[in-house]
This record gives sequence, structure tokens and C-alpha cells, in this order.
Amino acid sequence: MIQRPRRLRGNPILRKMVRETRVDKSSLIYPIFVQEGTGSCQEIPTMPGQYRYTIDQMSNKLEQLKKAGVDRVMFFGIPDQKDEVGSGAYAEDGIVQKALVEARRQFGEELYLITDVCMCEYTSHGHCGVLQGREVDNDPTLKLLAKTALSHAQAGADMVAPSDMMDGRVLAIRNELDDHGFVNVPIMSYAVKYASGFYGPFRDAAGSAPSFGDRKSYQMDFHNRKEGLKEALTDVEEGADLLIVKPALAYQDIIRQVADLVDIPVAAYSVSGEYAMVKAGAKLGYVEESRMIAEMAIGAYRAGASVYITYFAEEIAGLMDSGVIG
Ligand code: PBG
Repeated sequence: MIQRPRRLRGNPILRKMVRETRVDKSSLIYPIFVQEGTGSCQEIPTMPGQYRYTIDQMSNKLEQLKKAGVDRVMFFGIPDQKDEVGSGAYAEDGIVQKALVEARRQFGEELYLITDVCMCEYTSHGHCGVLQGREVDNDPTLKLLAKTALSHAQAGADMVAPSDMMDGRVLAIRNELDDHGFVNVPIMSYAVKYASGFYGPFRDAAGSAPSFGDRKSYQMDFHNRKEGLKEALTDVEEGADLLIVKPALAYQDIIRQVADLVDIPVAAYSVSGEYAMVKAGAKLGYVEESRMIAEMAIGAYRAGASVYITYFAEEIAGLMDSGVIG
């Protein structure tokens, strides 16, 4: 007897009925860039369609996201002043802190507010921590990251997402949050974060390219798989509530393995370079944008992600509305 899988996929009703991967909007997180000043929303040249918003302009975007059904956002701050110790990251009136207060004032509990916790946008040298000579000094950096996470929680963050890749930061942040009564603020850690060329456009957006050297002493070597699994387990042990694998597109094997290994949810972060590639290809007419977006998203979920962080969140919500994916 010959097998006939086409009996199912040949029929649109059955094809949809037996889909193995189901997704909905509640799993989407949209990263948003906020900057100091007023009245400006500046397009990021390498990420067409993405902007740096001043706080007064941010609300239009948040409103639009909410309408599209994307009600989870992750904030990235672009400060006016940078210094050696990244003090803008943990300042009470820092850009992210102010954005959180304003978003909460306007949207109450209707939006879920997540923050990226890192120092590279705030340090004059662009590294993800404080320096000792030309090296990032792990342990003093932990204190500042914990301080940053706490200041976000105090300003209204629902969840914090440390992206620095210092050793021990999940535990340091957990302790700091707990000591100040924020026991219910979850930590979504960038546990498996590779040193990647796919972050190029983000560094333009945030002006956070390192002024010397690279991030290879703290971000991971893309040749390695087991090291990623070890990072994931360490963060679970330290108390992470969700883990991020980043980038997403070239790392689907890692998403799958981490998802199989750990007993907490895994988020895939489809980063700036993935966005830029699709936009550039579509502009040239080489690829069809919405189909690329759909396959990249479903690929991440199929690999095991239950959360998808993406600059295409609104477009994906639209694809769900029209039944292309879902
Ligand atoms: C901060 C941070 C980066 C990204 C997220 N958090 C940049 C980096 O590590 O260089 C990249 C996001 C993207 O490329 O979309 N450390």
C-alpha cells in the first residue's frame, strides 16, 4: 500500500487542521528604541521601518501595536550622554526609566513592559560592562547590572532581560530584585547569545558598537553548541524564568536543543540583521517579504521557541489575522 500524505495536505481544511505548529499573538514581543528629546522619530537607516522614538512619540507606536494585538514590548534606551561606567543605565531619570513611567501612565496594565538590561548603550567605550584595562571586569559589572534591573523594576518594568552575558548576572539580579520586594518580576535571560554579525544594524540603531575590540570574550563563539547548552543550564540554576536564544535564524538547532533540555520557556530573538536582510532583499525585489517573515517566524516556533522577539511583530500579527500563519 502506498502512503498518501497528500490526502491531508491536498485538502485546505485538513491541511490547517493538522498543523503541527500553532502560534498566536500572545507569544510576540516587539523591541522598541527610545531616545532623549521631544518630537522626534528617526528612522534607523539600516532598519527601514524601525525608528528611534522620543518618549512623546513613542505612544503612537505603542497604541498601534496594541491595536494590532502586540501588547508585549521590550525597551532599548539610547541616552544622550555616555560615560565610562554607563551611569545612564541605572539613573532614576534614565531614558528607559522615563519611558517605563510614561508607558505605564498611558497604558496601565494593557501593555506588558520588558526591558533589555545591558550597559553597552550607555558606556562611552560601547562594551557591556565596566573595564579593567581593555577587558570587561565581570564582578563589578554585576553590581551595576543588578542596579540597572532594580531601577527598571522601580520604574514599572514587568520583566527584565539581561543581555550582557557576564557570568553570574542572573543570580545577582534575582537577589537584588528579591531584596527590594520585586519577587514577582521574572528574569528572561539572554542565556545563549552568540557574538554575531547579525547585530550590525542594532549597533547602528543604538550607537553601541564597541570603540575597540569586540564582544568575543563574553558573547559566544558560533562554532559551539555544547557551550550554549551549558550557558542555558547555568542560567536556569541561577533562577532565570525564561531563556533567550539569539540570533534565531542561523541558530535553530540551538533553539531546539535548549528547548528540549530545559524545563522553562525558550524565546527566540530574531535580531536586527535578520530584519535588515529581509527588508533589503524585498526592496530589491529578490524575495517576497511576507513569506520570508512567515517562514522565519514559524521556523523559530517549530524549533521549540514559545516566545518570539521580533521587529516584525506587527507584520506577523497581520499574517495571523489573515490566516497565513497561526
Ligand atoms: C545589548 C544588545 C544587543 C542586542 C540586544 N541587546 C547588541 C549586542 O549585543 O551587540 C542585539 C539586538 C539586535 O541585533 O536586534 N547587548
